[in-house]
Amino acid sequence: MTQPSADSIHSLTQRAILQLAEASDAEALEQWRVAYLGRRGELTNILRGLSGLDMEQRRELGALGNRAKTELEERLAGRTAEVSRAQQDAAFARDRIDVTLPGRPTIQGRLHPTTQIVREITDAFAGMGFSIVEGPEVEWDRYNFEMLNIPEGHPARDMWNSLWVDYRDEGGRQPMLLRTHTSPMQARVMESTQPPVRVVVPGKCYRYEATDATHEWHFYQIEGLAVDEGITFADLKGTLYEFARRLFGEERRVRFRCDYFPFVEPGVDMSIDCFSCDGNGEGCRICRDSGWIEIMGAGMVHPKVLADVGYDTEKYTGFAFGVGPERVAMLKYGIDDIRHFYSNDLRFLSQF
Ligand code: DAH
Repeated sequence: MTQPSADSIHSLTQRAILQLAEASDAEALEQWRVAYLGRRGELTNILRGLSGLDMEQRRELGALGNRAKTELEERLAGRTAEVSRAQQDAAFARDRIDVTLPGRPTIQGRLHPTTQIVREITDAFAGMGFSIVEGPEVEWDRYNFEMLNIPEGHPARDMWNSLWVDYRDEGGRQPMLLRTHTSPMQARVMESTQPPVRVVVPGKCYRYEATDATHEWHFYQIEGLAVDEGITFADLKGTLYEFARRLFGEERRVRFRCDYFPFVEPGVDMSIDCFSCDGNGEGCRICRDSGWIEIMGAGMVHPKVLADVGYDTEKYTGFAFGVGPERVAMLKYGIDDIRHFYSNDLRFLSQF
């Protein structure tokens, strides 16, 4: 046992203080506490040894020893706080966020060029009072053909050959197909509403088709239909002319020529004068020397189509049109191959 003396208490205290300064984590601090202040610690031993001394010495060294104990305890508390602060600072330094670093860019997509042009076209018609509706992509034969005056065996079915879905129920086989155009929505809309009707129908269509630069087996169409009392061919011309000017520029001229679609009479195709050569034609790649570019089919709704949905054909007339947005986009942006649209090549898509 250490012989208690003022010297031994003093030197023990000095040694303890020096050693405490070296302790730099919780474990070292605890070891230090056990070594000096613990139940068998050095200072504890000295204080315990006081009992063998005489009264005078015991009082004197006891006071000294207790002061030393208090001092060591205070220093331990101080050092403990210091160590934990240092550890915290180190952690902060390690985890610090540099708010001045530029952020990581988020990759932002954009609308597909078809979606962009579909919106542009439907917006143009919405501005003229048309509402926008959509319909099913898998369609009954009845709507895709029959209600459009294309009965079974009609030769026009050949140009809309498609992908059939064999559907059977108690009634037997119900012919169903991936719709070949958006025109079936004409009958669906008219069946569920009374005139006045003014709708545009954007949507996907499908055909059994060998693909090439101007043909895809799936593509979009935008159908249009207006039915009311007193609608004439002049309304058709005026509306479509205005559409052409909104999409292709104020100075556009349009041309209507007879065409055949079973669900309209008369039927037409509408062309705009070529915006690339301004209608001159010669040597123009876009209009192939003609000065005109066909952009859509249209016509006055066939009375049979109106009658089949129960409309009074003495009272109501209407016009319809169908436009291919990919074709419009190809013309507008000089795209040379329709297959670019759906080949998912970002080099193409990110240009729009
Ligand atoms: N459905 C026709 C097609 O796929 C396009 C069309 C032509 C729609 C004339 C019409 C129309 O509404 O009147 O080729």
